[in-house]
Amino acid sequence: MGERPTAAFWGAAPSPEQSRYVIGPEAMGTIVIFGATGDLAGRKLIPAIYNLWAAGFLPRKIAVVGVARKDKSDGEFRAEMCEALKKHSRTGHGDSDSCDPFVSNLYYHRFDFTSGDNLAGLRARLADIEQAAGLSGHRLFYLAVSPEFFVPIVSRLGQDGLIYPPGGARWARVVFEKPFGHDVDSARALNGAIAQDLSENQIYRIDHYLGKETVQNIFAFRFGNAIFEPLFNQHYVDHVQITMAETVGMEGRRGAFYDGIGAMRDVLQNHLFQILCLVAMEVPARFRAKEVHDEKMKVLCSVALPKDEPIEAWCVRGQYTSAPGVPGYLDEAGVRPDSHTETYVALRLFVDNWRWAGVPFLLRAGKALAKRVTEVAIQFKQPPTHYFRELSVAAPQANALVFRIQPDEGISLTFNAKPPGMDFHIQPVTMDFNYGQAFSGSLPEAYERLLLDALRGDSTLFMRGDEIECAWCLVTEVLRRWKEAPAPEPYRPGTWGPPSAARLFGPARGQWRDD
Ligand code: BG6
Repeated sequence: MGERPTAAFWGAAPSPEQSRYVIGPEAMGTIVIFGATGDLAGRKLIPAIYNLWAAGFLPRKIAVVGVARKDKSDGEFRAEMCEALKKHSRTGHGDSDSCDPFVSNLYYHRFDFTSGDNLAGLRARLADIEQAAGLSGHRLFYLAVSPEFFVPIVSRLGQDGLIYPPGGARWARVVFEKPFGHDVDSARALNGAIAQDLSENQIYRIDHYLGKETVQNIFAFRFGNAIFEPLFNQHYVDHVQITMAETVGMEGRRGAFYDGIGAMRDVLQNHLFQILCLVAMEVPARFRAKEVHDEKMKVLCSVALPKDEPIEAWCVRGQYTSAPGVPGYLDEAGVRPDSHTETYVALRLFVDNWRWAGVPFLLRAGKALAKRVTEVAIQFKQPPTHYFRELSVAAPQANALVFRIQPDEGISLTFNAKPPGMDFHIQPVTMDFNYGQAFSGSLPEAYERLLLDALRGDSTLFMRGDEIECAWCLVTEVLRRWKEAPAPEPYRPGTWGPPSAARLFGPARGQWRDD
């Protein structure tokens, strides 16, 4: 890797429109990754930083300091991250086997978060690195560690003078990986504890789904087109389906972590509720963090879980069993043999406000399902059919607008048309927008967008403390009711989950989009 590659997000250096996202040497922060030997750093964070750097969004000279418990030299860390780039970077890793000069910006510092030691050593090391690299001393701390270390690390950073007070010449921000809490009380306690050392505008709670291009496109589609937004309400929409289906199970490595969490905490509380907010929110007064967070908060406050119905009527949880060649959840390493952890969850809820009153929102997520797909389907109401009854043809299908978040990213609209011929028939057809066809180049990874935003001080695509607490309130209520509900229903891997999820439609027409 000789000179910086010129290939940027869309195959060229940042365009003039993108140049306001370019960070100059003065504004660039040192990136300090706690948990640098973990999976996330090698798979996502370092490749994202490399891609931003290679595309010209970061200055030539940067400093990324990995912090973790293991003993390791800078050289060993650089070699490992070079291998990670070869495997995981979407834009390649450059021309040479050493990944230079990018990896010469990487450093390693050993620190045991459990030791009770102070961070004076890290503070001195950062000062040396920043001086040598000509950096201003701004700092972005990224906590890619188990959540029990969040508070100990933040309070050490505070006590040892690594966090500057807000409003000064140098900034310090902290990014928190999920899970942020495991119920409403722990999320509140965590928000309270980190507020001792950080103000809200220094806190970046990440949900990587908000960084996905196709999720950001929900804003563009809804608020940038005059013809669709007027239809997003109870007068036109029959129901909304949000699906996050994965084919993978525990991948031989996630069992112990997942077993204490389950689908509800792992992805409903964050990814699916965040997507729900973007689909249901009012247009914010401005596209800025405060206004966007305020609108998302209103949606979360309006979510109503049925009070009088038994939980089985509006929520189904499942657990995958074994199939030939596929271990069942209970056989996975790290999973308790009698575990009731759900690997699938589906629920029906309402956003009880003027726009959405009476429109069911059906959310589901699961592991070991038939297909990998994340999508939002806006299912419109059935049109009146009297005209077609006289022609004795099949009734037209209701229109569906589908945001495909992944894979095959795009948007499709299904409507009815007459096929050519003397007969008068009605047949559903689809208008498709596909990212791959409409735009060239690979899509930026979510972590690229989010790391760049955190370095620029823009928290619009992050979660505010009150949003997290509100989402946890809903999830905690479901978890509470599950204590008295039957155990998760078994489902076979490679299917669409427990068959009883079909009954959640209740008053809504239609069925899950299992195709
Ligand atoms: C993570 C969950 O947040 O998202 C994982 O913890 C899940 O269980 C992952 O597999 C899915 O992310 P993506 O970007 O691959 O859809």
